[in-house]
Amino acid sequence: MAAAEVQRKESLEYAPESYYIRSPRSSDIPLLEKVERSAAEVFLTVNLGFLLDQPTVDPYLLASMANSGHLWIAVDKFDQPIGFLGGQYLEGNFHIIEVSVARSYQGRGIGKALMATMVDQIRAEGYKTITLTTYRDLPWNAPWYSRMGFAEVKSWDAGKSYEDILEEEARHGLDIRNRCVMRKIL
Ligand SMILES: CC(C)(COP(=O)(O)OP(=O)(O)OC[C@H]1O[C@@H](n2cnc3c(N)ncnc32)[C@H](O)[C@@H]1OP(=O)(O)O)[C@@H](O)C(=O)NCCC(=O)NCCS
Repeated sequence: MAAAEVQRKESLEYAPESYYIRSPRSSDIPLLEKVERSAAEVFLTVNLGFLLDQPTVDPYLLASMANSGHLWIAVDKFDQPIGFLGGQYLEGNFHIIEVSVARSYQGRGIGKALMATMVDQIRAEGYKTITLTTYRDLPWNAPWYSRMGFAEVKSWDAGKSYEDILEEEARHGLDIRNRCVMRKIL
């Protein structure tokens, strides 16, 4: 995939900086844990700090998503990863495993740009649906996805794999009453 430059909001005080969405390199994979842990700091703002201690995405899974062309990296002007989005095939859908943007880069449209890049490619690959699990009530989770065309679906309607994912999340201490499955129809 050709690197696409996305211009950040122009600041009055600083020269405008750029970030890029590009395909991953193997050297990026070990750097994504730090990005994911930094991203999770936003949960401290809603007393969900325990999420900072959750395991991050397995590097082998990241490598597998990268090999399938289903991992996208946002990098800063020094080509250092500041965000990523990865997913894989699940029950006929493209399922988002993780989207994370380092805490100090959040709220600048990088997450949205990662999502838009993924949606364009996934649509071109012929997928008809994109799914994910998320918190129903956090502003940067379900409401954010809703604005990008996702809608909640019942886990049993989504399929057994989704019920398994929610059960697994519950085992990790996530309050299942606030978790939901969302789907976007392409
Ligand atoms: C979800 C996430 C990837 C979004 O990345 P981002 O680069 O901040 O995304 P954007 O700048 O494109 O948009 C951020 C949106 O979240 C909202 N938001 C972000 N932080 C917020 C906060 N602390 N309080 C309220 N709203 C917040 C903004 O309103 C914004 O929505 P809008 O632009 O449509 O108005 C990022 O918040 C993150 O890494 N969170 C931690 C990990 C996570 O929750 N991943 C999703 C798992 S399902």
